[in-house]
Amino acid sequence: MGAYPEPQGVLTPLTDAAVFLVVTVRPGGEQTVAGLIPDLTSLLRAVGFRLPEGHLSLVTGFGSAVWGRLFSGARPAELHEFVELRGTRHHAPATLGDLLFHIRADRMDLCFELAAQIMDRLDGMVDVCDEVHGFRYFDRRDLFGFVDGTENPPGRAAIEAAIITDADPAFAGGSYAIVQKYVHDLDAWNALTTEAQSLVIGRHKLSNVELPDDRKPADSHVALNTVVRPDGMQQQIVRDNMPFGKAGSGEFGTYFIGYCHTPSTTEEMLRNMFLGQGAVRHDRILDFSTAVTGCLFYVPPIDFLDDPPPLPDMETATAPEPQVTDHRAEGDNGTLRIGDLKGVR
Ligand code: HEM
Repeated sequence: MGAYPEPQGVLTPLTDAAVFLVVTVRPGGEQTVAGLIPDLTSLLRAVGFRLPEGHLSLVTGFGSAVWGRLFSGARPAELHEFVELRGTRHHAPATLGDLLFHIRADRMDLCFELAAQIMDRLDGMVDVCDEVHGFRYFDRRDLFGFVDGTENPPGRAAIEAAIITDADPAFAGGSYAIVQKYVHDLDAWNALTTEAQSLVIGRHKLSNVELPDDRKPADSHVALNTVVRPDGMQQQIVRDNMPFGKAGSGEFGTYFIGYCHTPSTTEEMLRNMFLGQGAVRHDRILDFSTAVTGCLFYVPPIDFLDDPPPLPDMETATAPEPQVTDHRAEGDNGTLRIGDLKGVR
């Protein structure tokens, strides 16, 4: 692995609070966004320095549809739209999103302040698709009551999983983020026994210990997300999921975010979850959890943000066609329909 530019705070350890902000750029808003991009690191410093022990971090990502509107020159090799998945029972929708701001800190006031400063700069030039405020829930449990994040790769393995290196030299030091907002059916979940819940996830609820292979169902979440290459190497992603909710309106959820040096690993996990694998039709977790958003972003390294390529000449710039792989050729169940991405944007 050669030297590469310094990544944004992709590998920031799990924090106690997070804001996930996804927006689209209005036609004519390109200049304003381009003006903000080189200021992002100083905005982060300005807010974060007021409380260094709060560990404020910011990751900014760019979606496929906006790339050619903001930057002249080359595109990241694997930047494409989120691929909608339609299984026999469950659906992973592709939803709108040009810019992702993943803001993390140990205190919500820091996240909130940075989000507010960013939105102030973008005022009138973007539309907010989704804003989720996530919180730490006891010992890093999700709202299903399970510890979430245990098998994240540590240290060097995390860098290898998340950061682009030699495969795309012009975009090395970057990463790909896939986000999905999941809403839980807690009534149905709480109707299960603790033992049955453990079989859905593939780990013991209280102790967090993984179930032995001979007791772990093939449709459990852990079994379907353990992706091993033919050479025996496990394919990993870095997840920074956060619980969110509104007790008053009965909304309980998990905001999924997975970083990887290639979107194909996360996409393979999603296919396993929504389309199944072998005789398994879908991940059991989906019987209690509905995906309501789905977006894919390239996350450039810090140098790129500080000194981005110039805006394209919009007279000559043409919107790039979304690169969509038709996975139907790979599947054996014939149930996958790739969404009409132009239709959902
Ligand atoms: C409702 C949304 C989700 C919830 C509540 C959830 C929760 C969990 C929990 C509790 C674990 C076990 C502990 C751990 O290692 O973190 C886990 C593992 C994992 N999840 Fe999820 N998850 C969700 C969505 C996803 C999605 C969408 C993906 C991938 C596209 C994913 C990928 C993984 C992976 C790779 C593991 C580790 C598997 C292993 O090596 O043991 N999860 N998740």
